[in-house]
Amino acid sequence: MARVPVKLVDWNEIVEWSRGLAGRIKESGWTPDLIVAVSRGGFVPARLLCDFLDVSDLLAVQSQHWVEAARAAERAILKYPYRVDASGKNVLIVDDIVDTGETLMLARDFVEREWKPGQTRTAALQWISTVAKYKPDYYYIEVRDWTWFQYPWTRLEDITQFIERLAREDERLKHGIGVDALRAIFVEWYGVRPEDLGWYWDEALRRAVARGVLVVEDGVYRSRV
Ligand code: ADE
Repeated sequence: MARVPVKLVDWNEIVEWSRGLAGRIKESGWTPDLIVAVSRGGFVPARLLCDFLDVSDLLAVQSQHWVEAARAAERAILKYPYRVDASGKNVLIVDDIVDTGETLMLARDFVEREWKPGQTRTAALQWISTVAKYKPDYYYIEVRDWTWFQYPWTRLEDITQFIERLAREDERLKHGIGVDALRAIFVEWYGVRPEDLGWYWDEALRRAVARGVLVVEDGVYRSRV
């Protein structure tokens, strides 16, 4: 078993899930006039929902997570709280996943309070029902066992962070190891094989080195953090 359960999601699954989500919205008989993506994770699903539901108006609000000083709790805030007149409009707020649920709740409360729409509803491709404090009005997949869904639009960012976490937390990287050992440790932690990541793996390693988190000398990788 991997220490961190990760599932690689590919573009075809994203299209299939977004189409399924659009189907649920249609079945409900409710029609959005305006779609609001929660940036950045909601962008691709929101754009696909515009296509599948024949909606032309797409806006975004950006959430940002930050760790409160001296506290473990992360809080979400909206970075650019601009105002829009959405009076009389049905607004659908879209994110990729509802994990804690905090982001989507925040976006919905903001839009309702500041944009004064007719009605708001929320949608996500996935909902982690065992941890979320919030259930979206529409979702396509209910997840029970917490997993990190590695969506195709954050592949480089996520793989780099996965490698950087190994550099910080795995003792074996403090001493220096060859690339084959590094690949094996990566599989141990994440259950994902570097060969399934193609060029993303090499690029993520280069990024971790460029950021000074790892050093490589004669094919030996060592943590610098
Ligand atoms: N963003 C927040 N929680 C996530 C998860 N479990 N997988 C992918 N992206 C996320």
